[in-house]
Amino acid sequence: MKTICIVGLGIGQLYKNVAESLGWKTITVDPNILLRADYRDLLTMPDDVKFDMAVICTPNHTHEPIARLLVKRTDKIVVEKPGFATLQHWMKFQKEFPKVKLFMVKNNMYRVPELEYIRESIRDYGVESIKILWINKNRIPGAGSWFTTKELAYGGVSVDLMPHALSVAQAILREPNITTDNFIARCYQAYTLNDDVFDTNYGNSNPDGVYDVDDQAYFHTYVYGISVECITAWKVDNIARDYAEWHIKLKNGFTLKYTAGLCPEEAYAAMLDAYMLMTDKKYQEYIEYDRTIHHIIDSFITNPVIDLIHNAIDEN
Ligand SMILES: NC(=O)c1ccc[n+]([C@@H]2O[C@H](COP(=O)([O-])OP(=O)(O)OC[C@H]3O[C@@H](n4cnc5c(N)ncnc54)[C@H](O)[C@@H]3O)[C@@H](O)[C@H]2O)c1
Repeated sequence: MKTICIVGLGIGQLYKNVAESLGWKTITVDPNILLRADYRDLLTMPDDVKFDMAVICTPNHTHEPIARLLVKRTDKIVVEKPGFATLQHWMKFQKEFPKVKLFMVKNNMYRVPELEYIRESIRDYGVESIKILWINKNRIPGAGSWFTTKELAYGGVSVDLMPHALSVAQAILREPNITTDNFIARCYQAYTLNDDVFDTNYGNSNPDGVYDVDDQAYFHTYVYGISVECITAWKVDNIARDYAEWHIKLKNGFTLKYTAGLCPEEAYAAMLDAYMLMTDKKYQEYIEYDRTIHHIIDSFITNPVIDLIHNAIDEN
């Protein structure tokens, strides 16, 4: 029986359910006593506790130190997006621990039925453009939580969500390197302290009262002439509704519009299974997917994006 260690029991609880549905044994770690994990931390875990794989589901800034504690217990470490602080950190870790397979969570990349359908349509008709939209009109993340503190979240809610969108584009194209041509990667802090939010711990605000947290992000590139846009935003005024959609414009003039919604548990199961079974050879091909995502995330520069977001929506 396979054994998986789950570190952090927020979204980690979902991993526990998924791993159990795969028939795996789970070992859990979380300092919050209310969550009744098997261990409060990795330092107090006996040395002889080993596992086939570990998944790190803790706040972003804790991912790398936790991964370093795990290397003596497992040779497969899955890290929740957006990975480590930078691509440099990620590659340094891979160089230091060459026997460990390091994976970034890309659950949306394993939404097999819809991706197969999209790829089949692209094979039949050709594709002009791919647009992955994750735009929340009103939603506010937990005020004052690590998610809304830039240095703890490595940017903020929009850049933090970008790996999902980028991995979907990679999966549709079956191409890790979606930076082959010039690309635009911009994010912006637009959310102002106003009557909606009273908690002044909601990130640090600059003198204009704008939160120091990236809440709108836009990525655009061309891959072999195909336009690829990824847009994530947490609060956008003047739009009619939320967009959690994938738009695939085919060369026959038809646009496939898929409403993504929350990622189903089957996708998490398919991802864990694929990572657990990945051969050394396949891993060498796989590595580029995570490195490209890290490279793009590192490249985001602060610049207004609202017009780009509105244009992207208007075209639909
Ligand atoms: N793949 C997805 O769709 C998805 C969805 C939500 C969150 N996430 C990612 O998952 C990670 C966790 O997010 P969340 O929403 O569950 O956060 P959360 O704050 O709700 O939960 C984090 C949990 O980790 C625990 N924790 C903190 N430090 C720890 C440590 N050193 N050792 C063990 N446990 C520790 C906390 O007690 C808490 O229970 C983040 O990286 C986030 O970006 C991914």
